[in-house]
Amino acid sequence: MGVDARIGAANNIASGSGTVRSDDQLPSHRAIDNGNPAIFRPKWLVLDDINIDLITVATIVAALASTIFLQTRPALSIGAAAAVLLPLRTFFPRPKIPEGLVLITGASSGIGAEFSYIFAEKGHDLILVGRNEEKLAAVKENVESKYGRKAYTIAADLSLAGVAQQLYDHIKGKGFKVEVLVNGAGLGGAGNTLDQPIELTERMTVLNCITLVQLTQLFGRDMIERGRGWMLQITSIGGWLASPYQNLYHATKHYARAFSEALSVELRAHPGIVNTQLMPGPTHTQFITRAHAEELTMMATPLTLEDPRQVAMAGYRGLCKGKRMVFSSWNGAMSALTLQLVPRSVHLTMGALMNTPLRGLKRVQEPEKDQKARGEDL
Ligand SMILES: NC(=O)c1ccc[n+]([C@@H]2O[C@H](COP(=O)([O-])OP(=O)(O)OC[C@H]3O[C@@H](n4cnc5c(N)ncnc54)[C@H](OP(=O)(O)O)[C@@H]3O)[C@@H](O)[C@H]2O)c1
Repeated sequence: MGVDARIGAANNIASGSGTVRSDDQLPSHRAIDNGNPAIFRPKWLVLDDINIDLITVATIVAALASTIFLQTRPALSIGAAAAVLLPLRTFFPRPKIPEGLVLITGASSGIGAEFSYIFAEKGHDLILVGRNEEKLAAVKENVESKYGRKAYTIAADLSLAGVAQQLYDHIKGKGFKVEVLVNGAGLGGAGNTLDQPIELTERMTVLNCITLVQLTQLFGRDMIERGRGWMLQITSIGGWLASPYQNLYHATKHYARAFSEALSVELRAHPGIVNTQLMPGPTHTQFITRAHAEELTMMATPLTLEDPRQVAMAGYRGLCKGKRMVFSSWNGAMSALTLQLVPRSVHLTMGALMNTPLRGLKRVQEPEKDQKARGEDL
């Protein structure tokens, strides 16, 4: 829908007609047919990460039930459950280790830069995307001098509508074949939701949600055609939290988390394609200062700050194991999952407390290392 059509819709509402219409609106029967091929075949019987978790739950429930109701000896129940679960969880799923050219968005700093070094170390050539050309060049320099891999940089603002298609066309036009996609670019923002600039809402949503999804669609289709590919979505433990004062950011991460989880189910029909989401907790990168979140309790409590290298490594390992989702720390996993189990009133209060500013008592310092100075400590 173009801008004019939107203005038309707004005028109709304002004039009290109560219907949102524009001249180019399709009748519903045509709209359904309009480029949305609604033919799909769900696949169930695949030994993937999801079904293995399901079998794990069923086995544990069966072991408990037989101990409680059938008076089976606990040692026997535990032994039988372990005999099923240990080999299953140790050896499956085992997709191929990622190979080929890696596209990383948000590669100019933080977790994305660490992914660049990890993939380069594993022998991949890279396409690095971000806005800051100088920082991208520094990561490229490190990748090429330290690991001897080729890195191409593309400066692009991924918070603009339509940019995913442009980036895809540009990369295809250069003849690159992306085998691994890491959707890492992201932007946060702390504060009262209603005070935040409308324009920030749009940019954050396009960057954290729309671009991530569209890049996944565009490169994912090519992967399906080739019968192999790896996708890694960087979401957040914030995708589990209703989060007063980081509301917009965590809402975008809910979107990305739900999208990625459901995609993993759809990709069962394509066994060569892996989709993993990495859910970091608060991590020591410039993200925190950029989001004006450096004084929030959850960020400024030193015990909870994660190291970007370890976060990226957790994501890489998860991708190699074909996991649909990985937390980067036990701490993050426990807080995200525990907060699902408590009543919503407790959840919301905890969420608000975690985002309470410490008003100068404590604040996170931006990481000192810039990528230029990384040469020696990589
Ligand atoms: N740090 C945390 O506490 C934390 C926790 C959970 C999840 N995450 C997620 O982890 C991901 C990486 O964040 P990080 O912690 O590594 O922060 P970071 O150091 O600020 O990295 C963010 C990256 O995204 C890129 N980016 C931001 N806006 C962009 C735009 N409009 N167009 C293109 N690229 C853009 C930045 O590149 P330029 O500066 O060159 O534009 C940078 O490379 C994000 O998705 C974030 O939501 C972070």
